[in-house]
Amino acid sequence: MRLSAFLLNTSAKIEYYSRFSPSPLSIKQFLEFGRDNACEKTSYMFLRKELPVRLANTMREVNLLPDKLLTQPSVRLVQKWYMQSFLELLEYENRSPDDPHALNDFLEILIEIRNRHNDVVPTMAQGVIEYKEKFGFDPFASSNIQYFLDRFYTNRISFRMLINQHTLLFGNDTNPAHPKHIGSIDPACNVADVVNDAYEMAKMLCEQYYPTAPALKIKEFNAKAPDKPIQAVYVPSHLFHMLFELFKNAMRATVEHNEENKDDLPPVKAKVTLGKEDLSVKISDRGGGVPLRKIDRLFNYTYSTAPAPSLNSKRVPLAGFGHGLPISRLYARYFQGDLQLYSMEGVGTDAVIYLKALSSESFERLPVFNKSAWRHYQGGPGADDWSNPSKEPRDASKYKAKR
Ligand SMILES: Nc1ncnc2c1ncn2[C@@H]1O[C@H](COP(=O)(O)OP(=O)(O)OP(=O)(O)O)[C@@H](O)[C@H]1O
Ligand SMILES: [Mg+2]
Repeated sequence: MRLSAFLLNTSAKIEYYSRFSPSPLSIKQFLEFGRDNACEKTSYMFLRKELPVRLANTMREVNLLPDKLLTQPSVRLVQKWYMQSFLELLEYENRSPDDPHALNDFLEILIEIRNRHNDVVPTMAQGVIEYKEKFGFDPFASSNIQYFLDRFYTNRISFRMLINQHTLLFGNDTNPAHPKHIGSIDPACNVADVVNDAYEMAKMLCEQYYPTAPALKIKEFNAKAPDKPIQAVYVPSHLFHMLFELFKNAMRATVEHNEENKDDLPPVKAKVTLGKEDLSVKISDRGGGVPLRKIDRLFNYTYSTAPAPSLNSKRVPLAGFGHGLPISRLYARYFQGDLQLYSMEGVGTDAVIYLKALSSESFERLPVFNKSAWRHYQGGPGADDWSNPSKEPRDASKYKAKR
């Protein structure tokens, strides 16, 4: 096929697949499929359509970003990865699951695609930094970039979830350490254990930076089955990711706020609770808190009060990319939960992760490329429709004098 015909055909394919909305699955569905009737052919038939649909939805949306951002080399590189993966998946569009090599080839290609996309987040972040350095801060573009990245990274989380389920269930990379896991899901995930693991990992990191770290105090309140440990049907690696980020933040704030008291740091407290609807984990620190005015900003992808970590350093940074909170919130929201911060300036911060208590309610929350998403990128920054505080209050006396 000539190059121009090939490009035309590819863009028609992207257009075609992007017209489908992604099909969200619940944790319960993932679990039942993996446990009771794990059939590789069924999974193959589902994924060979669903993966291109999810890719195409996000690829169309990328094109709505400002041109100046799209032309940054890092963003181009990410787009190239997406295009390559999309084309590789199309090879299976018409390949029968009964073809003796199809299932195996598909499994291998999924692993290759997953590896290719490993560095999407830092590469995209690099693109945004390059763009901001060259063109400065523009509130309209920034709000579009924030909106886009939330959707783009959610799409990526979901894409990896689908690939991992398939490769773990049908490939050779089953995890011998967790024979009871169904793919990446633990049907009886002990939440306090994950809290402890994430704490220990963050503590190790914190001690490398400050030679000290606050202790952990953990409490459980199981309102559903008092005195029983709280268990979730969940993806432990997602929960670990969120908790690890929250602990790193809590520890950094605690150590920096209590510099004169390094030997007697206030502990970080974790509270794990289970009700009928919500399973919640609260991480509380006495790290001095953040003023209310700044809370929303903490969820911006480029906001960090830590010095930018060197990309070449072999040491894992404790903070500095500004991605910890926004990405953790995406993990929580991905299965219909949330992550919220409540801070009291001068004292400390509570960060709460909310998960759905029932796996049947934990449906994937996926971005859909449609008119209303498109409109979001087009509208200009509206005029402020609330009053702005004025430094010089109007002098009412002259109006009074006229009366
Ligand atoms: N518990 C907390 N107490 C005080 N400030 C906090 C707390 N959690 C977050 N912050 C503030 O929010 C900012 C953003 O946090 P976030 O975790 O998103 O990024 P980061 O920690 O700077 O970098 P990284 O991407 O490595 O996590 C931090 O730099 C810090 O200023
Ligand atoms: Mg952080």
